[in-house]
Amino acid sequence: MMYFDAELEKRAAEAEEIIKKYLPKEEGLHKTIFKAMNYSVNAGGKRIRPILMMETYRTMGGTDMELVAPFMAAIEMIHTYSLIHDDLPALDNDDFRRGKPTSHKMFGEAMAVLAGDGLQSYAYELAAKKLSSVTNQGDPEMVRRVVRAMRILTEKPGVNGMIGGQTVDVELTGKPVDEKVLQFIFELKTGAMIEASMMIGACLAGADRDQIHDVEHVAYCIGMAFQIRDDILDVISSIDKLGKDTQSDAKNEKTTWVTLYGMDQAMEDVDKYSEFAFYGLKKLGVENVEDTFLYALVKWLIARDH
Ligand code: FPP
Ligand code: MG
Repeated sequence: MMYFDAELEKRAAEAEEIIKKYLPKEEGLHKTIFKAMNYSVNAGGKRIRPILMMETYRTMGGTDMELVAPFMAAIEMIHTYSLIHDDLPALDNDDFRRGKPTSHKMFGEAMAVLAGDGLQSYAYELAAKKLSSVTNQGDPEMVRRVVRAMRILTEKPGVNGMIGGQTVDVELTGKPVDEKVLQFIFELKTGAMIEASMMIGACLAGADRDQIHDVEHVAYCIGMAFQIRDDILDVISSIDKLGKDTQSDAKNEKTTWVTLYGMDQAMEDVDKYSEFAFYGLKKLGVENVEDTFLYALVKWLIARDH
């Protein structure tokens, strides 16, 4: 797509505005928690998950931005909470994220733990509020969609999703990890959030069970390609480009796709998973899917250098 950069900028600005709109006000005796929450969300980030959600929603026929907006903010809050906790001294112990000092560097460790907790529960408040308002409007089909979206929003970041993957990741840091286990970690710690984003978009647009299942598979392939690319970037990129410390995996003695398979194979595997993702997208039954922004977005995501 010729105008991809401009289109991406437009979408990013749209997502940014929505995320900002749902941030809590920094007031009350407990305002420090809001400051810490907002600091990390406002630190930037590519907003990939909300953009993927919005574009999947639109590509599958969704038109009511009010419906998807709180879920876009919620997924970015959950993602941001996971980054705050991942950077803590007890986990990866990183000082920079999104080009800024990490939460625990700014607010201290205790407050960083709370800011992560706060973002997580606030995300569910937003979703539950939407469920209340849709229930009051009384359209049972819309209530069903929002309930399903909420279920995805609880399951995918949860113990059988992102947190589950992170558990194995933490437990095995510094220990030998084989191919099956690394695949499991990637699928859960990164894949699950990409899956949640796209599945919620599809579900709110009215996709049926089979379509949501197909979207889940596409998102899984994107997640794998995205995380393998993340491992590659940790080796070949720089803090200027990524906004976070590189060589972090080596520092933490982590098995990555690159240490396990070598750089050449890792690059090939990114291509392989991308091909699966494109194949899956074409199978979704969306007319001219290759011309959609979603398709171009997936292409860009997988080849990203930051
Ligand atoms: C970078 O996303 C993040 C990942 C590739 C996912 C890594 C997974 C975790 C950190 C899970 C941690 C979980 C817990 C419970 C601590 P990105 O490149 O989209 O970052 P950005 O939003 O800053 O652009
Ligand atoms: Mg980590």
